[in-house]
Amino acid sequence: MGASGITKVGVLGIGLMGSGIAQVSAAFGFETVVVDVSEEVVRRGMARIEDSLARLVASYERSGGQRGISAEQKGATLAKLRATSNRQQLMDRDIVIEAVTENYSAKAELYQQLVRLGYSGLLASNTSSISITQLAANYSRPDRFIGMHFMNPVPIQPGVEVIRGLLTSEETSRVCLAFAEELGKVPIPAEDKAGFGINRMFVPFLNEAVRVVEEGIMSVEDADKTTLCLGHKMGPLTTLDYVGLDTALAVAEVLEAELGPAYKPAPLLRRLVQAGHFGVKNGKGFYVYEEGKPLSVNPAVARYRIKA
Ligand SMILES: NC(=O)c1ccc[n+]([C@@H]2O[C@H](COP(=O)([O-])OP(=O)(O)OC[C@H]3O[C@@H](n4cnc5c(N)ncnc54)[C@H](O)[C@@H]3O)[C@@H](O)[C@H]2O)c1
Repeated sequence: MGASGITKVGVLGIGLMGSGIAQVSAAFGFETVVVDVSEEVVRRGMARIEDSLARLVASYERSGGQRGISAEQKGATLAKLRATSNRQQLMDRDIVIEAVTENYSAKAELYQQLVRLGYSGLLASNTSSISITQLAANYSRPDRFIGMHFMNPVPIQPGVEVIRGLLTSEETSRVCLAFAEELGKVPIPAEDKAGFGINRMFVPFLNEAVRVVEEGIMSVEDADKTTLCLGHKMGPLTTLDYVGLDTALAVAEVLEAELGPAYKPAPLLRRLVQAGHFGVKNGKGFYVYEEGKPLSVNPAVARYRIKA
């Protein structure tokens, strides 16, 4: 057991982020249970984790053990991981990390359910933008509530913002900073203001990239190309497709409400979400994808222009 004292971890949500958090937690030796709404969603989430582990094993074999993980490490990770649609299985956890849809009411209702089921351990939200203090008001132990904002893709990106709400205790903060390190991550303390540190800086950048496209300044591919030329590993529109356009829109709306009109979501971002184009997760965003691989720019995006 490490300095945090945590051995049993629960994760709520096996989507893009929850699957990554559960994978990393199991890979670092924590007994991990991950819960989502139905057995079908759980099965899809587990397939994502197995695919991610298989890619890490392939990387290990290609690099002669320099990168990735061995087949034995993959087996050890899966042995520490249990996925279910039964929330009751979270009750004995030292910490539950919530990574469900970026929606205040959905998160609030879930915390109230956990309280009714009898949970009173540490509760961390992976929210990208919603106030930790406001979320904590739905939990019986706001002193044990904190933000742990992992970055996407979780198995690759080292940063985790650790955000104290107004009522988060010193002890909760100490334990969660230590726990982030035990997950092999770099903990970055942040205060509870919309977007915390990273999204305060990063969301306007992504949003402006959408405006560059919708105002006809650059094509989708060229807007991506410009930042690749700056040394970024991924262009902003491809990044938005990986983040999920629905999630990006929800985050921008929270930032706009708290920080003002500079954070107003670009109209094209909203239109794509209204059309049901959420990015890689459902095959259409700024690009069209097949089995996670981009095929072309989405024709719906290419058609959309705001006339000056
Ligand atoms: N996408 C990103 O790049 C990113 C990065 C950092 C943080 N986040 C945050 O992580 C959280 C999850 O985002 P995501 O991108 O993984 O979303 P996602 O849409 O991929 O997954 C959300 C999951 O939550 C599940 N869910 C919804 N309600 C639930 C409930 N009541 N009980 C159990 N499961 C439930 C859904 O079935 C789904 O599997 C959000 O708060 C988001 O802001 C996202």
